[in-house]
Parts: sequence; structure tokens; C-alpha cells
Amino acid sequence: MPAPHELGRLTSDAGAFALAAATRMIEDGQSDLQMLQSLRRTVTQDTATAALRQAQLRRRAVAKFGDDAAQMWFLPDSLEQASRPEVSAHRVGRLVDAGVRRIVDAGAGIGGDTIAFARAGIDVTAIESDPAVSEALRLNVAALGLGGLVEVVPTAAREALRGVDARTVLFFDPARRTDGRRVFDPQLCSPPLSWITSFTNPVVAKMSPGLDHDAVPDGWEAEWVSTATESGRSVVEACLWSPPFAAAECRATVVGRNTVESIAGRPDDDLPVGEVSSYVYEPDGAVNQAHLVGQVVRATGGTLLQPKIAYVTGDSPLPSTLASTYQVLEVLNWSKRRVKAAMRNYSARDLIVKMRGLRLDPGAVRRELLPALHDQAGEPIVLILCRRTSDTIAILARRVAT
Ligand SMILES: C[S@@+](CC[C@H](N)C(=O)[O-])C[C@H]1O[C@@H](n2cnc3c(N)ncnc32)[C@H](O)[C@@H]1O
Repeated sequence: MPAPHELGRLTSDAGAFALAAATRMIEDGQSDLQMLQSLRRTVTQDTATAALRQAQLRRRAVAKFGDDAAQMWFLPDSLEQASRPEVSAHRVGRLVDAGVRRIVDAGAGIGGDTIAFARAGIDVTAIESDPAVSEALRLNVAALGLGGLVEVVPTAAREALRGVDARTVLFFDPARRTDGRRVFDPQLCSPPLSWITSFTNPVVAKMSPGLDHDAVPDGWEAEWVSTATESGRSVVEACLWSPPFAAAECRATVVGRNTVESIAGRPDDDLPVGEVSSYVYEPDGAVNQAHLVGQVVRATGGTLLQPKIAYVTGDSPLPSTLASTYQVLEVLNWSKRRVKAAMRNYSARDLIVKMRGLRLDPGAVRRELLPALHDQAGEPIVLILCRRTSDTIAILARRVAT
């Protein structure tokens, strides 16, 4: 974590000049050494280093914050932990629908969620205990013209929330890192889940996507949310909603570029298993983690391919972002030799190997089978491997656009 004064150094005239210069030099593709040497001609070593670091963070932040990144202030951990605007926007949408006009963001970071609340017209008290981070938060709120709606409180949440009115809506996004390392136990986050759930206030808490169902308090809703990230679609959070907001036991939400799809209900019981049909559906990770695969089974009139494994099969495409649909081309008993022979009949620019619950290396299977394709052109071919009662079956399929 850089010293608290690092951002202050960059908001002086000389610092702003160095930051603008570093931004241009990064765009020109200069090396770190070239940039530092050139910045050192006009500013101190510390300011040059800070300017370069901030310009690099802003560049990295474009993937998350788009055009806003150019005006925002970041610290490495805080950028990493900041909510994605499209996911915050979904959360804010639920709050606005519930009539929330004021919220306390307790552990606001550099303001990913604070900004989304304020942009929806919600008054925010943004509490942040880390001095450098709260400074970045204050600068971000000002840079984005949201100062009228946000009060930044640079203190610890326990102190700031002492005696808070029980009607105040509280939002928590606890820090899931200590000393740069990830923390998986919600009780070890800062602040810990036990403290968050001790409030009688209406509470919303963004937790790790790996949150255990057993950690969800009775009467609260747990919503697993997935979205597109730099490394493909992933489940980015499990958001807990306390009773005034909770509308179901579990929810799975897929946030797309222009779409949001949700399913909600009780977690799955045992699901039926059946023969491979014309289509295979792979529920989104959010559906899987919310234990709502049964809803895909019911929506498709299908069955699982294998007990307790989230591949569903049925006889019509599922027009939804909540599951990927694959049209089955061929089903074989799994052996590399047999599948290799079958693949000679297909052209595809790539082979995607999918499997769950099998001790095989999908990368190695892909490397071995890819050269067998008749021709490397056209839509990728998908190989789904799954275990039936005594043997493993191989399904060759193509993805259906939904
Ligand atoms: C996961 S980040 C918040 C990210 C934020 N929601 C965003 O989208 O940018 C958690 C933040 O909580 C702060 N924090 C941790 N414990 C705190 C406490 N007890 N009081 C106030 N802030 C705290 C950390 O410094 C960190 O910046």
C-alpha cells in the first residue's frame, strides 16, 4: 500500500503535469525506464514513480470502469477489489426498486459501489478506514461530480456505525485480503460477517463468490452474480440481502452487457438423471453455486447427465444466458482412439473440452485430439465428457447462440 501522501503528490500542479505526461508516454508504448527518466527531468523521483504507477493503474482500470477510469484515482488492491459497475448497477436497481434513498457504504474502497449508489440518486455516507484509500475515494467522488450526494467518512466502520439508526440501510463489501493475500473465511474478512449480520438494520453485503450456503443467515437471500470479466465469464460475488430485501432463499443472476437474467428459489433437492438427448445445457456458474440447476432441469423438461453434476440434457434449445446450450452431434463411449476417429468427420477452428468430476486434464485431451479434426475452420467443436454408471461417455456438440 503506497504512503497516504502519494495521491496528494499527484494533485499538485507538478504532479498533475507528470501524471498527464506518464499517461501519454504509456499510450506511446515507452518503457518504464524511459518514462521515469523523462519524468525525472521535471519532478522528483517520488512524484515520477507515483505518476507512472497511477497512469498504469488508470490504464488497467479501463477494463472495469471504462471512460471514468481516466479521471479516477486508484490503489492496486482497491482497483482489484472494486465492484464492476454493471454488477453494482444491478444491485442498485434492486435498492431503488425497494425505495432506498439513503445508504451507508461501510468499507467503501475507492468507491465502485458508492459511485453507483450516487449515480442512482441515493445519498451515500461512504466510510473507509484506510487513509490512502479514503483519499482516493474523496477524489473520485469529486472528479465524477458526485460530491453533493456523497459524504466520505475516513474512519473505521465500528466507530462510524456506533449508535446508527436502526432504519438506516447498510451496505458492506468487506475486505477479503490481508497482506495482499486472499481470505476465504467470511469471518476473517474485514469487517467479519458475524458483525455484519449482527445488525437489525436492513443490510446488503457483498461476499466472496465461494460463500458457503451454511454461512447464509436464516431468512436472508444469497444472490450469486456472474458477469463477463477479463478472464471470461465468472461468478464475481455472492450478495447477501437481509429480510426486508430478501425475496427468495437463493438467486442466480447473470449480468450481461445489456441484459440481466435472474432465477430464484429454494436450493435443489435430488434431480432426475437420464439419457443424452438432443441438447446439453451447461448452467452458468452462478446457477450452479446458487444450487438452482433444478430450475434449468425444469425449464427444459430435461434431466441431469450424471448425478450431482451440473450438465443438463433435454430436447430443445434454451434461449437464456443462465445456461449455455450445446446441440449434440454424436455420443460415443469415451476412448481417445474412438473420439479421434469420430473427429475426422468434423471441421472446426478449435476444440473445447468440458468435463466435471473426472480425473483427466482437459488441456492435454484438447492438445491430443485437436489435430484429428478434418479441417481447422468453422465453429468450435465441443467435447463434453461425463461419467455414466460404469463408463465415461463423450458427447461431440456445437454451441447454440442464445
Ligand atoms: C472490498 S473493498 C470495497 C470495495 C468497494 N465496494 C468498491 O466497489 O470499490 C473493502 C474496503 O473496506 C475497507 N475496510 C476494511 N475494514 C474496514 C473497517 N473496519 N472500517 C472501514 N473500512 C474498512 C478496506 O480498507 C477496503 O478499502
